Amino acid sequence: MKKSLLDYTLKIRLPIFLFVAVLSFILTYFFSRAERDGVGYAPQQPIAFSHKLHAGTMGIDCKYCHTGVTVSRHATIPAVSVCMNCHSVVRKAKPEIIKLTKAFESGVALPWKRVHKVPEYVYFNHSVHVNKGVPCAQCHGKVEAMDVVSQVSELTMASCINCHRNAPQVLAGIPGIKNGPDNCAACHR
Ligand code: HEC
Ligand code: HEC
Ligand code: HEC
Ligand code: HEC
Ligand code: HEC
Repeated sequence: MKKSLLDYTLKIRLPIFLFVAVLSFILTYFFSRAERDGVGYAPQQPIAFSHKLHAGTMGIDCKYCHTGVTVSRHATIPAVSVCMNCHSVVRKAKPEIIKLTKAFESGVALPWKRVHKVPEYVYFNHSVHVNKGVPCAQCHGKVEAMDVVSQVSELTMASCINCHRNAPQVLAGIPGIKNGPDNCAACHR
């Protein structure tokens, strides 16, 4: 009896345990990588919101929804109430807008999936760049042409520093552009 229990533990439970441990490690590795520097990373979002339609065809200003870009580190994702400024009336009967309305009424924030992310140990600030005139498209590509947002720039240390050391060339045509910092402490504080 004892022996067979030990057998069972070694032959069945241990392999299963190891398999699950290794698998979860691999999955965690790939998912966190994808979130960090996945050029082409374009997760499916909880509501099929299209930038191409809203920012492209309708021409709504990025800052109408991303209110943080000129005043803070974070661009910020708009609350559902911003969508409801229009969708309390517009396309109310469409399935995606019914979902949106339910989220609004329940008061629970939509679980939008993050596309661009630098690691915690990196200091990045939107307002500094946007207020100097660096266009969103320089780092995010033509979002107004995307149905689903996709990461187009690497956001690696080399990509930050490459612009910081050659800003007047990279951003030719923007008046008064100076190089960004390349000392370690500017981005790692
Ligand atoms: C009507 C509101 C609205 C407008 C206008 C808008 N956005 Fe967005 N944006 C969103 C929402 C909601 C999300 C989150 C869902 C998604 O990724 O599509 C988002 C996500 C993003 C992301 C990805 C964020 C991440 O997780 O990394 C970028 C980049 C972005 N927007 C840039 C822009 C730019 C550039 C413009 C102007 C050309 C713009 N947006 C206009 C609402 C808007
Ligand atoms: C300034 C007004 C306005 C704002 C703000 C706005 N929308 Fe829209 N949205 C529209 C209009 C108008 C349409 C229909 C456009 C068309 O089909 O020609 C639309 C269409 C849509 C559709 C497609 C509906 C369908 O199936 O036909 C979705 C989904 C959507 N919006 C989601 C959102 C979300 C999510 C937000 C907030 C992040 C948002 N909208 C903010 C005006 C707005
Ligand atoms: C110099 C490059 C650069 C420029 C210019 C830039 N972004 Fe970003 N953006 C980033 C980086 C890097 C991240 C990831 C930041 C993080 O992880 O904290 C990001 C993240 C975001 C996010 C998601 C997270 C957040 O910060 O709330 C949105 C939305 C966004 N950007 C929108 C915009 C819009 C809109 C503009 C133009 C008005 C813009 N960005 C200009 C580099 C840039
Ligand atoms: C397309 C060019 C460009 C890219 C890409 C870029 N930057 Fe910058 N950055 C600038 C410019 C221009 C300034 C402002 C220089 C000045 O006039 O002082 C700046 C300034 C800064 C500053 C100093 C301002 C402050 O808040 O102390 C930091 C930090 C910074 N950038 C971090 C980053 C990081 C991190 C990345 C990469 C994720 C990045 N930048 C990518 C152009 C860029
Ligand atoms: C302009 C901003 C910027 C400056 C200046 C900068 N870094 Fe970084 N650093 C980054 C970013 C962004 C990452 C994250 C890269 C990634 O996720 O791939 C990073 C990542 C790192 C890492 C993690 C390992 C790696 O390569 O992914 C180390 C170590 C590091 N930096 C050291 C330094 C040192 C030392 C200096 C000064 C010589 C420096 N950094 C200057 C932006 C910067």
